[in-house]
Amino acid sequence: MPNSKIAGIGMYVPEKVVTNHDLMEVMETSDEWIQERTGIKERHHAHPTKDTTTTMGVEAAKIAMERAGTTAQDIDFIVFATLSPDYYFPGCGVLVQRALKMKEIGALDVRNQCSGFVYALSVADQFIKSGMYKNILVIGAEKHSFGLDFTTRGRNVSVIFGDGAGAVVLQATEGPGILSTHLHSNGDAAEILAMYNPGTHANMWMPDLADFGDAEVGKMFVTQQMVDKEQFFPNMDGPSVFKMAVVKFPEVIMEALNKNGYTPQDLKLFVPHQANLRISQFVQQKMKLRDDQVYNNIDRFGNTTAASIPIALCEAWEKGLVKEGDLVCLAAFGSGFTWASALLRW
Ligand code: ACO
Repeated sequence: MPNSKIAGIGMYVPEKVVTNHDLMEVMETSDEWIQERTGIKERHHAHPTKDTTTTMGVEAAKIAMERAGTTAQDIDFIVFATLSPDYYFPGCGVLVQRALKMKEIGALDVRNQCSGFVYALSVADQFIKSGMYKNILVIGAEKHSFGLDFTTRGRNVSVIFGDGAGAVVLQATEGPGILSTHLHSNGDAAEILAMYNPGTHANMWMPDLADFGDAEVGKMFVTQQMVDKEQFFPNMDGPSVFKMAVVKFPEVIMEALNKNGYTPQDLKLFVPHQANLRISQFVQQKMKLRDDQVYNNIDRFGNTTAASIPIALCEAWEKGLVKEGDLVCLAAFGSGFTWASALLRW
């Protein structure tokens, strides 16, 4: 059975840097509040018209392919993780296939938010281990800035998120690579961290819209009320997310380590989804990991959801913090709730 390895990794963040001080110009917040609660100093925001989730993903993919020594023609399959796709449908995967003039290969979009990249990596890993594909492009990308409430009302969410993309080429190998992946979900808390609109739930969640007549029902996807009341932004119960994240992160990391007979001390590097520096620090403490075993860059990029792990892993690799033979753990927790981990030998 072939193994799968990360043969190349790339990242792309848009040029525009938005500091906490910039946000203070548009909402009531402070650099101190944001840094103390989240560890974030600045994030990047996409160009409103030039960058899309797909274009950023494509830029990261080009670097990953070059570093893997592959061309777009060598890629057998695309897995694209995002919660902020260019279109409601089709997904970003097909847009990557078009942009990179690839063969008519399969393209799959993964909708698992903060866990999206690890889920996508796991899907790609199975395709390679089954022998079906040899080179898979796995992308995580987000253009959050286009759908956040930058007024004081939305400050608990909008200060946290940033835009960007990361990508890897996952390649078949006879050598070491991904040891195991672990995927979980619990939908009981689906609405705790969610963007409700547009969606097909409208009758359930907005009883005052239940009076729509048959002729109107086709327009319930986007209603005037949603526009008037600005009901199209993400919602988050921050404390509830925090409480669950600090339980599930360690659980899923230990699951990966136990499965392969390792302990936290064996890890060269742990790259957590960059949800919030406080969450990462809590997890680090609970796992008794040293500072040099954990890579965080949320201070400069904010939370880029599906892109955060490949961006952090790419930076770590570029800095020489991950070398051949190193044991690396990736783990994520987020909306759904979903959580996941991957343990790999670089
Ligand atoms: N600037 C200033 N004040 C703010 C801001 C802001 N940006 N946002 C909220 N506040 C205020 C609130 O209005 C509230 O004021 P009040 O006490 O006068 O009512 C006060 O700060 C506390 O609000 P909370 O929402 O209770 O803030 P909390 O202390 O819980 O911190 C945070 C919010 C940072 C989101 C925290 O709950 C947290 O770390 N949650 C984890 C969730 C997370 O990190 N999510 C990231 C995305 S999801 C993921 O990737 C898994």
